[in-house]
Amino acid sequence: MLAPIPTGIIAEAPARGDLFATDPLAALPSLEEIARVVEACRKCGLGHTRLHSVPGQGNPHAGLVVVGEAPGATEDETGLAFVGRAGQLLTDILAAIKLSRDDVFICNVLKCRPPNNRDPEPLEVAACSPYLHRQLELIRPKVILAMGRPAAHALLGTNASLGDLRQKVHRYRGIPLIVTYHPAALLRNPHWKRPTWDDVRLARRIFDDEVV
Ligand code: SF4
Ligand code: URA
Repeated sequence: MLAPIPTGIIAEAPARGDLFATDPLAALPSLEEIARVVEACRKCGLGHTRLHSVPGQGNPHAGLVVVGEAPGATEDETGLAFVGRAGQLLTDILAAIKLSRDDVFICNVLKCRPPNNRDPEPLEVAACSPYLHRQLELIRPKVILAMGRPAAHALLGTNASLGDLRQKVHRYRGIPLIVTYHPAALLRNPHWKRPTWDDVRLARRIFDDEVV
């Protein structure tokens, strides 16, 4: 018998009548429509500096959704999430839990690249996150894998450290959510690969209905 997994943060949907609940973006009918609106979006300054928007891609019925931070240079050039070096590592991480990129949906908190890959600004995250919330609402995966602190912050509303957030089952609007290191961080610190492996195995166990 495996040890029980600690419960983490519980992030609920905003109450009806809340400002965000009345956002028209929250009613976009499909992932395709979200991608179309994102392509034309100028809600923050990144809409003026990007080459291509990067709405996210993959299986619209995915049981697992990966959420990263923001597009980098290769993503900006191609319009696809996680296709540069970090993306190659993500492909390997998914393969380690026997998932292909086509099995999952891969996206980011921000849909446009911050210049020189600088950190997302709070106003940019606030402007862009309705797209992510709606994507998750439409897909309703069995488990969400938040990679890196910005993704955890955007989805759980916490500033906790990554070390505090790992190895717990959080809830995003009822959906189990696992936090792990961002693949770009793993490229800089390979000793985080082992804990990441533990985290994604936990996500896979939820995917397989073994826990929660
Ligand atoms: Fe719009 Fe998000 Fe791009 Fe800003 S980052 S322009 S909010 S799609
Ligand atoms: N880093 C991210 O957070 N997302 C990408 O799509 C690429 C690199």
